[in-house]
Amino acid sequence: MSTSTPMGTIGSGHDRLDGREKVQGQARYAAEWPLENVLYGMLVQSTIARGRIAQIDLLDAQTEPGVRAIFTHLNTPKLSMPDQMPLGQGVMPLQSDRVAYEGQHVALVLAETLEQAQHAAKLVRITYDVERAHVEYRDQLASGFPAASFAPADTSTGDVDAALASADVRIDATYETADRHHAAMEPSATIADWRDGKMTLYDAAQGISVVRYTVSEMLGIPVENVRVISKFLGGGFGSKGYVWPHQILAAMASRECNRPVKLVLTRAQSFTSHGYQCATHQELTLGAKRDGTLVAIRHCSWNPTSADDDYIEFAPAPTRTLYACNAIETQARAVHVDRNNPTPMRAPHEGPGAVGIECAMDELAYALGMDPLELRLRNYAADTDPTTGRPFSQKNLRECYLTAARRFGWERRSPVPGSMRVGDELVGYGMASAIMSTFRFPSSARVTLDVDGSVVIESGTQDIGGGQYTILPQIAADVLGVPIDRVRIVLGDTALPEAGMTAGSSSTMGVGSAVFAAATKLREMLAGRSTVTEKISADASWSPDGGMTSERYSMHSYGAVFAEVRVDADLPIPRVERIVGTYSAGRVINAKTARSQIIGGMTWGIGQALLEASELDPNLGRYLSKNLAGFLVPVNADVHELDVSFIDEVDEKASLLGAKGIGELGAVGVGPAIANAVFHATGKRVRSLPIRPEYLL
Ligand code: MOS
Repeated sequence: MSTSTPMGTIGSGHDRLDGREKVQGQARYAAEWPLENVLYGMLVQSTIARGRIAQIDLLDAQTEPGVRAIFTHLNTPKLSMPDQMPLGQGVMPLQSDRVAYEGQHVALVLAETLEQAQHAAKLVRITYDVERAHVEYRDQLASGFPAASFAPADTSTGDVDAALASADVRIDATYETADRHHAAMEPSATIADWRDGKMTLYDAAQGISVVRYTVSEMLGIPVENVRVISKFLGGGFGSKGYVWPHQILAAMASRECNRPVKLVLTRAQSFTSHGYQCATHQELTLGAKRDGTLVAIRHCSWNPTSADDDYIEFAPAPTRTLYACNAIETQARAVHVDRNNPTPMRAPHEGPGAVGIECAMDELAYALGMDPLELRLRNYAADTDPTTGRPFSQKNLRECYLTAARRFGWERRSPVPGSMRVGDELVGYGMASAIMSTFRFPSSARVTLDVDGSVVIESGTQDIGGGQYTILPQIAADVLGVPIDRVRIVLGDTALPEAGMTAGSSSTMGVGSAVFAAATKLREMLAGRSTVTEKISADASWSPDGGMTSERYSMHSYGAVFAEVRVDADLPIPRVERIVGTYSAGRVINAKTARSQIIGGMTWGIGQALLEASELDPNLGRYLSKNLAGFLVPVNADVHELDVSFIDEVDEKASLLGAKGIGELGAVGVGPAIANAVFHATGKRVRSLPIRPEYLL
């Protein structure tokens, strides 16, 4: 467990240094920058899922008071398309008459006030030549195609068919996860300010540098003339990772109008203006010996992607690594549909993927008459990754299983489904493994000591809400041996030393390692001096050894998740009584923010298991409820006891700090642990998440 360290140093649970600013409303989010002479933008979005824009009638909209410009595909300058990411989708709206998905931007209205822009946007009349759209992917799995990005689409070790023939017990099952949306508290927002040939964007971005490069490329502005500022983010969860069309359109409009342009997505627009976590269809086959030894695993998944893209949700990712088994086959396929493109969402790949493998393992445990935890321990992969053969950089998952089981009281579980009860409620205990790939981005930082003894950290990173304003000063304070209240950080500006994206749970380890290196360098520069008479700065960069995902090691963070659910025997609404999670995730830098990340992830997992689904009308190709009344996320009443603990460990191969990713890990394993607990409570195996009460009737 985390050891007790003095406040302000690495490992301690220091309170957020930006907490006061946030609760007092002083933290400045993208849409809150006070610029003079701003034009307000309002997007108009297509009401059809596929077709062509036949006619645009702007007469009424244009003559409304305050309206200064309306951009459509007829008058928007041509933008140069980047070859690949980080533009989050292959279709750039307002560049042709084509409509590729419902909710695609088809016009941008600019007016003197927000209300004028909103009103005029409603008066834009667009006529379409409608084409038949196909938005359902499950009826065309055969058209699925492989795509690789950071991982190969297919992997294969051993002979799965031969191994299955020798198995005593076999499980074949199909699992599904739903389309889900990020629903960040702060919708995406951009203020673009073009003046004197320079573009400044105040943006809600998880990667200010990628926004900078993409705007530069698409608008043909030299990169040194583009500056992106993002001081605070109200969450992102992946939705602000890649660059989306509204950011480019805000910049374009500012340049065309020669005025600052503010563009804030509405909640409804958020459903199609950036990506979402696509549904998955996962087919699992497991074969085992009578004693529980796995002999074969096959995991194939399919997901929808837009007509122009090849987004893959690597649901089989956890299956490639989790269990020692000589025959493992995985494949991931995407299916084209007439919808907007998906994007990573906490926790991409492993989050949906763990539902498949961890529910299948639970089914196998029942088929064998074996305790689900015992089955995991029996097949524990101790030293090497079963698919790549690479050694694990660090793995203490066994300790996670044992610690979490003890904290949970797993030994009180009676194995037969439906056999535990409290009053009128059925009680279910379920468990699952958590695993998350380690992503690492190069980062740099500068640390400066002033003559008054104060320290300033500068880094072009961004704080998604994870606690960078606190964690990074802790690191510098620790290295320099100064109290943390003497350290402050300036971040969220591309004028600062460049840092990686805040994605893949990578900021603390990447930027933290750069801060650690810069502070260490500064300490060495100061060695032997008793006083400083002028500011002294040290710059340093950190680059991950072996690339973004290590080429030498199998590098992951891990966890074990145990859940207790209660299900009323007559009206079967499942609710989560408690969740216990123990994690093996490298060095913990701030015990409090680390715990906060995990409880956020656990809450996210409750949503995956029981609530979150963006329902689509198959004929209109449109989400039924583009709001938080129809897209249910867990609220306080849905979340009860959450118990979080970490194994004390340092992964020196992962980063200079020994830290790994935490933010997304907490969202993995919770869904299947809850689903398995629902089965234990009710004896009903629901293989499609979220689990609705009607499935249990
Ligand atoms: Mo995360 S879903 O990589 O922002």
